[in-house]
Amino acid sequence: MKTNVLLNNGVKMPLLGLGIYAPGEKNEVRNAVSHALELGYRLLDTASIYQNEEEVGQGFKDSGLAREKVFITSKVWRDEQGYVQTLRAYDKSLKRLQTDYIDLYLIHWPVRTGLKETWQALEQLYEEKRVKAIGVSNYYEPHLKELFEYANVIPAVNQFEFSPFLYLPNVVNFCIDHKIQPEGYAPLVRGEKAQHPVLVDIAEKHRKSTYQVLIRWSMQHNVVTIPKSVNPDRIKANFDVWDFQLSPMEMDSLDQLHDGTRVADDPMTYL
Ligand SMILES: NC(=O)c1ccc[n+]([C@@H]2O[C@H](COP(=O)([O-])OP(=O)(O)OC[C@H]3O[C@@H](n4cnc5c(N)ncnc54)[C@H](OP(=O)(O)O)[C@@H]3O)[C@@H](O)[C@H]2O)c1
Repeated sequence: MKTNVLLNNGVKMPLLGLGIYAPGEKNEVRNAVSHALELGYRLLDTASIYQNEEEVGQGFKDSGLAREKVFITSKVWRDEQGYVQTLRAYDKSLKRLQTDYIDLYLIHWPVRTGLKETWQALEQLYEEKRVKAIGVSNYYEPHLKELFEYANVIPAVNQFEFSPFLYLPNVVNFCIDHKIQPEGYAPLVRGEKAQHPVLVDIAEKHRKSTYQVLIRWSMQHNVVTIPKSVNPDRIKANFDVWDFQLSPMEMDSLDQLHDGTRVADDPMTYL
């Protein structure tokens, strides 16, 4: 299985990365990031609201890797939206991350105030080559259609909640049809479904954990996935998913698990 996807502007993005929504204890995120990078992770997913960009930057520095070897995503939060506010928020994220560019900068949620101006600020950053790619998060079809009315740059990525329990082929296909790479968050459903019998059965057949099956399911849908962990063993296990393959029948039975389970808000409430 390939390790990267190609975005609509030619930028390469790893298919599997580290989610970093972890308020956590001091140095927890820093250690998780440097450990993950040591193991081969090359995609880090943070956001200004996670309040851990400093530690992400420190963990990256600790790894000793060259900046261009690591793909860093951050996001502009709800209360930072608007043209000037977004440009300011981007600069603050850069400073906290101790870097001079972010690989992928996303609008975190489609809140109603200043959405168009926020996107125009992202386009400005992109035009000035201060960011490698821009995108959105928690956008469903109506949000994307609205954005298309004023966008000069089509988002490279749309990040939304995605697991077999929230299997959204319509959103995925709409993105693919418009050359937007889908990226799934909360792929592990925060552990809520780890004991589901269908998952347990498939995991046992492959001698993997149900968490590894969930990660692999996203990857086989060609959806970039960012399982979160700050635990060294679990960070390692979540990356040990390259040596098995779910059969078409297994993929199908996982697809059937959709029951609308969410860990975050429904974007349709942001219309
Ligand atoms: N764009 C958005 O609006 C948005 C919203 C939510 C999340 N996200 C992003 O997506 C990432 C992932 O989503 P998420 O953090 O909500 O949930 P998740 O990745 O589905 O689940 C994370 C939880 O599972 C545990 N875990 C991880 N690997 C495990 C394993 N192998 N065995 C047992 N438990 C395991 C973690 O605990 P330990 O850390 O203790 O291992 C943590 O409690 C976030 O961190 C964030 O980067 C984005």
